[in-house]
Amino acid sequence: MRIPLMAGNWKMNKTVDEAVAMVNELKGLVADADDVDVAICAPAVNLYAMNEVVEGSNVDLGAENMYWRDSGAYTGELSPAMVKSVGCKYVIVGHSERREIFGENDELLNLKLKAAIDNDLTPILCIGETLEERESGVLFEKIKFQLAAGLSGVQAEAVKDMVLAYEPIWAIGTGKTATPEQAEEIIKFIRQTIASMYDAETAQSIRIQYGGSVKPHNVKEIMAQPNIDGALVGGASLEAESFSKIVNFNK
Ligand code: PGA
Repeated sequence: MRIPLMAGNWKMNKTVDEAVAMVNELKGLVADADDVDVAICAPAVNLYAMNEVVEGSNVDLGAENMYWRDSGAYTGELSPAMVKSVGCKYVIVGHSERREIFGENDELLNLKLKAAIDNDLTPILCIGETLEERESGVLFEKIKFQLAAGLSGVQAEAVKDMVLAYEPIWAIGTGKTATPEQAEEIIKFIRQTIASMYDAETAQSIRIQYGGSVKPHNVKEIMAQPNIDGALVGGASLEAESFSKIVNFNK
């Protein structure tokens, strides 16, 4: 059985003090969460202090990005070992903002994904289409391409334990959520594609989240879809109260 993962993605928000205060409040609010994994992916400079606060709680941490090399002359970058050393369990790979604003391509993201797996981090690989791609009918092709390129050379055993996040780019931070049925249609297609690339068991094991304007008021219907295994949450993860409502969607 797949346990849903509710993961916050803070993006470029919160100083250390603000981050510590938020997770301090959050851990109390989600302490009784049932059958849900909880994570906050935060700006790297906050993670060390956050880790001290969440220790012993059910809140896990993730990085929003990292580089794939182990060390060296890569000014401004973080290695997988650094991310691990501040207590991260997860790392987001290929968020659409990394792809679009920072020009990260599928080849680079594939290297990052493999580096995460090799270093015992659980990658959350983001995929999704723009509005133009949806409207011009290349949506399914785009998803297939991102899966093939992103997972190139990754073995089934690793795919089973990783996380995919389907995030239609037009729904991120816009307040335009894909309808639960639209999200389910694509996530089901992603699962079928994983089955054809690997096998049925791998497709049934991998967790696939939906992301894009998930809020306390719409999380229940999203989570009622059979193929959706949680959410990657931007704006609504910044406040402990709203994120805890998303985590506790089944209460
Ligand atoms: P949003 O962001 O919830 O603010 O739409 C989601 C994301 O970018 O992961």
